[in-house]
Amino acid sequence: MIFNRSKSETLLDNAELDMERIPEHVAMIMDGNGRWAKKRNMPRVAGHQQGMEVVKTVAKAAAQRGVKVLTLYAFSTENWKRPEDEVGFLMKLPGRFFDTFIPEIKANNIRVEIIGEIDGVPADTKRVVLNAVEQTADNTGMILNFALNYGSRAEIVDGIKEMALAVQQGELAIDDITEATVSEHLMTAQLGALADPDLLIRTGGEQRLSNFLMWQSAYSEFIFMDTLWPDLTADIFDETLLTFQQRNRRFGGLAENNSDKK
Ligand code: IPE
Ligand code: IPE
Ligand code: MG
Repeated sequence: MIFNRSKSETLLDNAELDMERIPEHVAMIMDGNGRWAKKRNMPRVAGHQQGMEVVKTVAKAAAQRGVKVLTLYAFSTENWKRPEDEVGFLMKLPGRFFDTFIPEIKANNIRVEIIGEIDGVPADTKRVVLNAVEQTADNTGMILNFALNYGSRAEIVDGIKEMALAVQQGELAIDDITEATVSEHLMTAQLGALADPDLLIRTGGEQRLSNFLMWQSAYSEFIFMDTLWPDLTADIFDETLLTFQQRNRRFGGLAENNSDKK
């Protein structure tokens, strides 16, 4: 149990993970692949390749800890600005990932989901991704949710268009549009009550959202770390869970008076 350690995030020494207070939805901005490769005088894509291996490590660690949804930012709507070679490599990664990892995904009862403009990715990429979703649809464990060709603004624009159309067609009254209505028109709606991340982690040292889950992260706890994504380990992942447990989430209300209950 952790009592009132929120001001001492670096004092992780004696703290132990409280398995009753694992964040249900963890979202991660996997950044720093290019710099990891550059440090080793390797091409940027070598960082993406190593980053893919770390996705496997983190997915297994999260599932083992009892995380219910792990959302991973794999490719943003802005990442098309990168050189063609790099984009091409990134679009081939889902194929390599699922080819090598589907057996373990199944063994760990993990269900694959996807958010993003899937119609905007190459046909081959779309096929392997949708195939992984289909092959794991009956699994009941952690949802491994890939944000692929995802952008928060595009998602919100699409949601607004859907709502506007519903209003135009007389299916939705303007006065009935609530925060819940908006959430229902975002891509994370398929996650139901788990749509909003409890914990949002960004590796690679930058402290920004880069168009990731803007609506959904309104009350997420943020952890920005300098560790580059390909250097992330299961132990470092555990440390982020511990840091999360030391935070005091108030949602605009008052502190829970040192309670160790959720
Ligand atoms: C994150 O690593 C992976 C993607 C954005 C696809 P980067 O490729 O952004 O790595 P850095 O930030 O250049 O080091
Ligand atoms: C965010 O990283 C996108 C992903 C991790 C997929 P970027 O490297 O694209 O973000 P910026 O350009 O530094 O904001
Ligand atoms: Mg980057």
